[in-house]
Amino acid sequence: MTKALAAKPSSHLLSAAEHVRGLPAYVAGKPIAEVAREFGLDPNTIIKLASNENPLGMPASAKQAIIDALDETGRYPDANGFDLKETIAAKYDVPMSWLTLGNGSNDILELAARAFLGAGQSAVFSQFSFVVYPLAVQAVGARAIVVPATDGLGHDLDAMRAAIAQDTRLVFIANPNNPTGTFLTPAAIESFLNALPSRVVVVLDEAYNEYLEPELRFESSIWVRRHPNLIVSRTLSKAYGLAGLRVGYALAQAEATDLLNRVRQPFNVNVLAQAAAIAALKDHAFLARTYSVNRAGYAQLVAAFERLHLRYIPSFGNFVLVKVGEDVRAGERVNLSLLKSGVIVRPVGNYGLPQWLRISIGLEHENAALIDALPRALES
Ligand SMILES: Cc1ncc(COP(=O)(O)O)c(C=O)c1O
Repeated sequence: MTKALAAKPSSHLLSAAEHVRGLPAYVAGKPIAEVAREFGLDPNTIIKLASNENPLGMPASAKQAIIDALDETGRYPDANGFDLKETIAAKYDVPMSWLTLGNGSNDILELAARAFLGAGQSAVFSQFSFVVYPLAVQAVGARAIVVPATDGLGHDLDAMRAAIAQDTRLVFIANPNNPTGTFLTPAAIESFLNALPSRVVVVLDEAYNEYLEPELRFESSIWVRRHPNLIVSRTLSKAYGLAGLRVGYALAQAEATDLLNRVRQPFNVNVLAQAAAIAALKDHAFLARTYSVNRAGYAQLVAAFERLHLRYIPSFGNFVLVKVGEDVRAGERVNLSLLKSGVIVRPVGNYGLPQWLRISIGLEHENAALIDALPRALES
C-alpha cells in the first residue's frame, strides 16, 4: 500500500452524525466455532447457553415447511406477508391491518424508533433492560431517559411514568425483561398504560411471553384494542426455535401499524422465514415441549445456584441472571474459565452488571455441563 493510501486511524475520512459515531457495537453471544478456534476445543463438545435460544432447535414442522418453500426462493418474498399475517391475525382475532412483520423483533424495535422518534425527542426505558433499546434510540438521534431499576433489578413503572418528559415519544417495556428475567404483573402494566399521555407510544416487548406460567399470562391484544398508542412486539426466535431465520411481529392498531410499515423495508422477512413461521405458530406440541423443558431446566439450574450459595434473580424467561462474585471483574473472570471448559454463557458488563452472568436454560445435559464447570470457575 502506498503512503497516500494508508488509512489514518485517528482522523475521520467519512462524515457521520455524532450520534452515529458514538453508537456502541452490539455484543453478541460468542458463536461455538469462534470459541472452538480460540480455546482449541472440539466444537462438538461445546455447550452454548449464551443467546436465549431454544435448546430443542427448530421444530421439525418448520424444517419441513422450509424444504417445501425452497423452490420459491428465486422470487422475492411476499412484501405484505399475507399468509403469515393471516395465521397471526387468526391467533389474536385481530385484522391483518394491525400487524407488522419484522426481521426478528429487533427489527420491530428499530421500526418503532424510526417511526416515532427523532432528534429533539426522548425515549424512556428501564436500567438493565434489553440492550437494543438504547441503540435504537441513539441511532435516530434521540435522547434516552434511563430509569433506575428496582432493588430486584426490575422495571420501576411508577418512576418510569414520572420520568416521561415533554419531548418523550416512546417507552420501551420488556416483560419478561432480558437480562434480568423479571416480570411485571398485568395489573401494573394496565395502570401504566391508563396513566400515559396518548402522544407517548409504548412498545411492550413480549419476546419471552411463552415461557410464563399460563396463570401469569395476559392476552395483550386486549390492551391493543383499548390503546391506539400501544405496540406489542413478539418474536419467533425464542420459544418457537427460529432465531436464525429472523422473524418477529408487532401488534398495534391500524394507525400505528401503518406508520411502522412506512419505515419498513419491503422484503424484510424472507421466503423461508415466512413459511417456517407459519408452521411454527401452528405447532402447539413443540411449544408445549419447549415450555416443559424450560421449567425443568430452570429448576435444575436454580437448585445448583442455591447449593453454591449464589444469588440469582428469579426468572420468568428462558435464562437466569446469577451473581458470580463481588468484585467488578467477577463476571469476566468466571466467564473466561467457563469458556476454557467449553461452556459459553453471557457476561453482562455491557448492561452495567459486571458481577453477574446471564445463563440461558438448556437441555438437561447442557445445564449439567455448566453446573459441573461452575465451582472451578467460581474459584478462578
Ligand atoms: C427482550 C428482547 N426483545 C427482543 C429481542 C430480539 O430478538 P429477535 O430479534 O431475535 O426477535 C431479544 C433478543 O434477545 C430480547 O431479549
